[in-house]
Amino acid sequence: MKNEYSAKLVFNKRINNDSSLLTFLCPEIASSAKPGQFVNISCSKLLKRPFGVCETDPERGFFSIGVREVGEGTREICAYEPGQVVDVLGPLGNTFPTEGVSKLILVGGGTGVYPLYYALSDAKKSSVPTLSVCGFRGSDDTCLVDEFRDCSDRFIVTSDNGDIGIHGNVLDALKDIGDEDISGSTVITVGPDVMMKRVSEWAAEKGLPCFVSLERRMACGVGMCLVCTCKIKSPKDDHAFYNKRCCADGPVFDAKEVIW
Ligand SMILES: Cc1cc2nc3c(=O)[nH]c(=O)nc-3n(C[C@H](O)[C@H](O)[C@H](O)COP(=O)(O)OP(=O)(O)OC[C@H]3O[C@@H](n4cnc5c(N)ncnc54)[C@H](O)[C@@H]3O)c2cc1C
Ligand code: FES
Repeated sequence: MKNEYSAKLVFNKRINNDSSLLTFLCPEIASSAKPGQFVNISCSKLLKRPFGVCETDPERGFFSIGVREVGEGTREICAYEPGQVVDVLGPLGNTFPTEGVSKLILVGGGTGVYPLYYALSDAKKSSVPTLSVCGFRGSDDTCLVDEFRDCSDRFIVTSDNGDIGIHGNVLDALKDIGDEDISGSTVITVGPDVMMKRVSEWAAEKGLPCFVSLERRMACGVGMCLVCTCKIKSPKDDHAFYNKRCCADGPVFDAKEVIW
């Protein structure tokens, strides 16, 4: 199935010190992407760069990604002007679970908030009750806070330096939530590995299913090069593991299976 397209940048909005929200016209991806999936975007480097899909508008043919500048590729992508045409590979990877999900807890850190927002909007459309917890370094690092507040049934923001929301991290916020508020929920989390590991331990203690979206350095994005492997437990032997491809077998995995 063809999954490489030309996409035209239609909006580029700076949203904090080092990040931008980019909206592309690409009806094929806008109509086929699902929450949890990602796209590979071209720049002048040899390899395309992967970004989680943040929003789609199938009627207008738009999809959006949030990009933090961390190196040359992301700096170049954030500087694209409307009208720029890029090559996009996607949608790639698997999706967050939706079947049997009757209540959702979404936990995001840093750029993990972007793909999480897509899952949140989807849950809202399906009238699934949501509790969102997003953690940032400080107020100059936040993204999509108003959007999360508007879309979530309950929303908590945390910051490491305490200048917005709860002073602390997402775990501090989760620990203060009563058991009656979380019972029956499925947890999905995207962010730094250390955060996702601790969120999955918290979910396991509470007996809640938990799914994480892993981020690995990627090259092909479609399962061919094996650059992006991650260790996943063997179902038969707790001490054995498989190498799975984050791009093609993931990026979403059941937290119980992940070897951190
Ligand atoms: C499935 C997936 C979804 C992603 N979604 C988003 C998103 O929604 N928004 C966003 O801003 N970024 C996202 N990323 C990360 C983004 O792809 C990288 O930041 C980008 O590729 C870096 O390119 P660069 O040329 O700017 O940096 P480089 O010059 O290649 O690297 C600069 C620094 O970033 C680190 N880095 C590069 N790629 C990764 C990576 N994949 N994971 C962890 N560290 C990396 C490098 O180790 C280095 O320290 C995602 C990555 C994956 C795999
Ligand atoms: S990036 Fe090539 S196999 Fe995943």
